[in-house]
Amino acid sequence: MIINEAQQKLLEATKENATTEQLIWLSGYFYGLANERVGVNLGSTQNSAPKSLPNVTVLYATETGNAAGVAQKLHDQLASSGVPVSIYNMLDYRIKSLKKETLVMIVASTYGDGEAPDEALAFYKALMGEKAPKLDHISYSVFGLGDSSYDLFCQTGIDFDKRFEELGATRLLNRVDSDVEFEENAEKWISEITSTLAHAETQASSSEGSNNTTTAQNWSESNPFGGELLNIIDLTDDHSEKSVWHLEIGLDESGIQYQPGDIVALLPKNDPTLVAQIIETTGLSPDETVQIKETSYTLETALAQKLDITSLNKKFVENYAKQTHQSDFDLSSNEIQSLIKDGDLLDLVQAKPAKLSAQALVDLLRPLRSRQYSIASSQAAYDDEVHVTVKQVEYESLGRPRKGVCSNWLASLSEGDSIPLYIKPNNGFKLPKDEQTKVIMVGAGTGVAPFRSFLQERDAQGIQGNTWLFFGEQHFSSDFLYQLEWQKLVKSNVLENISLAFSRDQAEKIYVQNRLVEQAQEVFKWLKEGAYLYVCGDRNHMAKDVHNAFITVIAEQGQKTADEAEAYLQDLISQRRYQRDVY
Ligand SMILES: Cc1cc2nc3c(=O)[nH]c(=O)nc-3n(C[C@H](O)[C@H](O)[C@H](O)COP(=O)(O)OP(=O)(O)OC[C@H]3O[C@@H](n4cnc5c(N)ncnc54)[C@H](O)[C@@H]3O)c2cc1C
Ligand SMILES: Cc1cc2nc3c(=O)[nH]c(=O)nc-3n(C[C@H](O)[C@H](O)[C@H](O)COP(=O)(O)O)c2cc1C
Repeated sequence: MIINEAQQKLLEATKENATTEQLIWLSGYFYGLANERVGVNLGSTQNSAPKSLPNVTVLYATETGNAAGVAQKLHDQLASSGVPVSIYNMLDYRIKSLKKETLVMIVASTYGDGEAPDEALAFYKALMGEKAPKLDHISYSVFGLGDSSYDLFCQTGIDFDKRFEELGATRLLNRVDSDVEFEENAEKWISEITSTLAHAETQASSSEGSNNTTTAQNWSESNPFGGELLNIIDLTDDHSEKSVWHLEIGLDESGIQYQPGDIVALLPKNDPTLVAQIIETTGLSPDETVQIKETSYTLETALAQKLDITSLNKKFVENYAKQTHQSDFDLSSNEIQSLIKDGDLLDLVQAKPAKLSAQALVDLLRPLRSRQYSIASSQAAYDDEVHVTVKQVEYESLGRPRKGVCSNWLASLSEGDSIPLYIKPNNGFKLPKDEQTKVIMVGAGTGVAPFRSFLQERDAQGIQGNTWLFFGEQHFSSDFLYQLEWQKLVKSNVLENISLAFSRDQAEKIYVQNRLVEQAQEVFKWLKEGAYLYVCGDRNHMAKDVHNAFITVIAEQGQKTADEAEAYLQDLISQRRYQRDVY
């Protein structure tokens, strides 16, 4: 034993009574003392905070950059307060490194059915596995990002928090589960951590780790740039079962820079007809003044431009029931459950009418949020424009036709209209640095958008070959998005191969995943030659089927079991050679 029994007792007693903050202080104190004894002069350790505060490691799990942004802010704030800090995308962080950590801050978003983001999956699995290391030397805190309209709200953050505790780590601050409006919570969490860890006289910061972090942009959700709609084209013809729009938006004088693979967030307006119906049903006046945060609006403007009126969730319905004192409100009833799942505000106020002031109604509603779109253009080709490919979302629910907010708002716009927007850098979906590296792109429907950007970029740079696009849609004649552009790119050999899957042009359904398996030998050859795989589009069906198709290709061609093929794919993820932008 490195310490004697008396020292051990003293330590145990100190551990029992000390706050986490005191433990952190003590760990730094002893570390500094030890360094002094071995001759490293770190200055005085008396009276004030230690100059050798242990390093803070910020780990983030992200898909579209929100968690990366929060993690980066925490990193910057700690660094500027003199706290030594490192930041890592979980993709770049090995679980065994936890053994040498003292302070770990986790920022994690949630996807799919409560799953961790793709790039964090390997770390997540290792942490949840039997071989995970003991973490009783670590203090930590978790900031979860999610959306409360999903059943498994902030599940990844919850899982990390629970597992760190199970492995013996000490919670420095309680976990925060943050809804879509996460910015305010993030500021609070960051400043609490900073004030807990930062001491006036701590040493200058150091920063290392992944350089693959997001780039700050001036425009944001609360301060979007007003882009001018320059052109809007229907990419599908009258016989199509869907409408997909191509929009070109001007960025003049915005200073906006983006890279192929990045995302643009667009801030929509609600359908005016739906707003009018809600106002009529509630009997409120459209001109009544309401307050949101510090700003006044008419009720009509607030409902049209500021508030989410199309999705319900349990918390909202619960609060509505409370506010309106409705005693017959059985939240577990089928009626209410189905309203929460499939209904909107109009359904609720129709089904459960009640007197509610305009301000009370506004206070209940969540803010109307931006929608994200994979950028379909390259600034190497269109330096002052951003293009998007948008499918108009229309469906029926509870016997009433519904329209997706943003896609229908965009489809209703005319040239010259303004579209509030900002860019979300997407570091997890980037072309390889070496232009000779082969690139396999799989996109169904609007999932093809970022590949237009990739290929425009390579075209503008005069790079030929080494590219293979798998594109799928329903019908060749009505849904072949950007057909002429692909043909041109094939002709100029910017696009070396194109494989098409039109699912409904023959008796049996054919999808991109079928094309991948059909071309297994060549796909595997490209993989062995170092190809990068990119998948974009539908998360729930297409991306899963394409993943399974890759497993089949790798297992078949590489003589591997399904588990080995899965491990091969996981390895590609950790090499950043398998990147997905799925939604
Ligand atoms: C990283 C990323 C990139 C994206 N890129 C693109 C892109 O390039 N192009 C694109 O078109 N979209 C893209 N999306 C999706 C886009 O952000 C929007 O979600 C989409 O346009 C719908 O938004 P909306 O406001 O029109 O619909 P909303 O008002 O948000 O309504 C959508 C909701 O309606 C419900 N719904 C939809 N269809 C049905 C149905 N058939 N039955 C029952 N309920 C249904 C679902 O709950 C769904 O969440 C991307 C999303 C992400 C996260
Ligand atoms: C396709 C998709 C699935 C999602 N699934 C969940 C979910 O199951 N639970 C949840 O709380 N949030 C879910 N979200 C919300 C995200 O976690 C949230 O938008 C978060 O801010 C994204 O952070 P990121 O940009 O760091 O990836 C989902 C979002 C998308 C686009």
